[in-house]
Amino acid sequence: MAKSEAWHDVGAISELAQRPLQQIAIGTTKIALVCRDGAFSAISGVCNHVAGPLGNGRLDGDYVVCPWHNWKFHCQTGLGEPGYEEDAVPTYPVKVENGRVLVNSEPQSPRTRKKHDPHPLARPVARQDGPIRVVGISTTVMDAANPRYSTSDALLEHAIEHAHAKEDAETRLIHLNDLKFRACEGYYSKSSHACTWPCSITQMDPTDELDRVYEAIVHWADVILVATPIRWGNASSLYYKMVERMNCIQNQITISNKVLMHNKVAAFIITGGQDNVQAVAGQMLGFFAELGCHLPPFPYIAHSRGWSAEDMERNIEYVSKSKELREGAADLVCRAIGVAKKLLTSTATEARTTRGGRKAHQLDVKAQI
Ligand code: FES
Repeated sequence: MAKSEAWHDVGAISELAQRPLQQIAIGTTKIALVCRDGAFSAISGVCNHVAGPLGNGRLDGDYVVCPWHNWKFHCQTGLGEPGYEEDAVPTYPVKVENGRVLVNSEPQSPRTRKKHDPHPLARPVARQDGPIRVVGISTTVMDAANPRYSTSDALLEHAIEHAHAKEDAETRLIHLNDLKFRACEGYYSKSSHACTWPCSITQMDPTDELDRVYEAIVHWADVILVATPIRWGNASSLYYKMVERMNCIQNQITISNKVLMHNKVAAFIITGGQDNVQAVAGQMLGFFAELGCHLPPFPYIAHSRGWSAEDMERNIEYVSKSKELREGAADLVCRAIGVAKKLLTSTATEARTTRGGRKAHQLDVKAQI
């Protein structure tokens, strides 16, 4: 039975009926007010997922669709869409009197949550024992059916081979060109809380393959080596497509003070027929530092021949034969591995010291007793 003192006049029918769905507030209670075929109903304005504003979404038949990630709730019962009925939001009584709409702020049904299996990427980040792990990420775009020589890929492959053969590292090489993944759709621009970890797209779209990159850089690798060509003075379009999707990693620091990437070292390979190495490096250094990555001394190697160099064939020939660049790529990955080893050793020592300190303290306390 709705408490009489909890009825609130939320506005004139003539005005509220103009919109099929709107977000209103009664004090601090957020409500999604629906007007469907002239009949009003009200459900909570707070989504079960990560609290998206349901009243700012849209109607799909009888369902209110959350504007953040499309979860759906019945506009009268509050139940989730078929198959997800256990995920229900509260409903509120509504009545119409003297041309006014009245909503009772006492919910008439509770919020219930269906148990959702967490996405595999959402597991705690814990480094598994084993040798240093290096992931190489190629951001080069090319026609896979008619491949071409990529100078940045060639140096990346050399660095990865070197890490495996000379440093006994476990290695992975990811070509973004081989992955099908969506561009960032700007969930952060709706609200910082709409940009989730794992990425909203990764959670919603099982066909999106950027999970392989997230898995490698967050859960697996100690060293992240990113290679890019220079395209009109910038990194490649695939590089930007990838890093925009990595906002979800950085955003965890902003909204939850949660650093997902500990003890990771990033380094870069940048090549281009023309110029702008420093600007490309600047973006890459800045972005990966913002994720929490460490940088080795001299964190990138690069090569370009300058603005007037249009003879790409000569550039390819130069890079493919350059002992200096290959050695540079090998030295780069060695420097990064060196920093990663130091970080892991100091973390292990710190953990031992903390445990030892606690044990010594316990012994001390026991002795006093
Ligand atoms: S679907 Fe509503 S907050 Fe994600």
